[in-house]
Amino acid sequence: MARILVTGIATIDHVLDVADYPAEDTESRALASAFTPGGNAANTARILAQAGHRADLAAVIALDADGEALLRMLEGFAVGVTPCARQPGRTPVSHVLRSRRSGSRTIVHYRDLPELTAAEFCEIELAAYDWFHFEGRNPPELPALLGAARAAAVDQPVSLELEKPRAGLDAAMPLADVLMFSRDWARSRADQPEAFIEQAAQQRPEQVQTLTWGHRGAWVAHRGQIVHCAPTAGLSIRDSLGAGDSFNAGLIHALVSGQPPEQALGAAVRLAERKLSQQGLDGLFA
Ligand code: FRU
Repeated sequence: MARILVTGIATIDHVLDVADYPAEDTESRALASAFTPGGNAANTARILAQAGHRADLAAVIALDADGEALLRMLEGFAVGVTPCARQPGRTPVSHVLRSRRSGSRTIVHYRDLPELTAAEFCEIELAAYDWFHFEGRNPPELPALLGAARAAAVDQPVSLELEKPRAGLDAAMPLADVLMFSRDWARSRADQPEAFIEQAAQQRPEQVQTLTWGHRGAWVAHRGQIVHCAPTAGLSIRDSLGAGDSFNAGLIHALVSGQPPEQALGAAVRLAERKLSQQGLDGLFA
């Protein structure tokens, strides 16, 4: 069991299950409707808590009734919310259409809430954690957040997710020990996954770097070695909402438990596949 601080966002996801993705300017009826906590950091923390870790979330929570409800829901999933900062604004909401036919999810996200500042982050008792994970967002503040974690850490690892290719996030990359790249990020830099991971391996040989690329599988690069993990053939995909967050949680769980990078990659891919083959984020380790 490790104490892990996960920094990023928490949202309320309104998930509507539909038989098929609707066409524009049509009306259809959803098969199911649910409100659930979401956001990459909140999801990752929730899965790490399921794995038996003490997972704390550092996110801004709105000072509105939905913010209160969100905190209670997160606590219900055993996520520690003491490091969260409260701010005036509105609770971010994601409207998610989840297609029963394809298992894919389409997200429309709305936010009107400030991002976590370095000053707020520095109020957290950082020395208490064994691992720091960050969602790659808020480029102006991100290097200061990672820098504060680094300054508080003796040898506790720092990981950083690079999902959406936002300008300015590169500045935080040298401050992390583990970098988790998404297909969207890699596509903004290279045509093929192999080209991206080879380039990353050359640029940052000391860091553990992963790349996930849907049906092409995932890669890890570390100290001149690149390892590929193929996806399970014929996997039936029921729900892709939070699959990337599951991969990240699986990777952190394996690495913090002492597994070497190539083994951790396999564990993370299998956890993401487990998530893809079931609905929701509960019971991923059962
Ligand atoms: C899934 C997710 C959702 C959230 C959205 C935010 O990875 O974290 O839970 O609404 O992405 O971008």
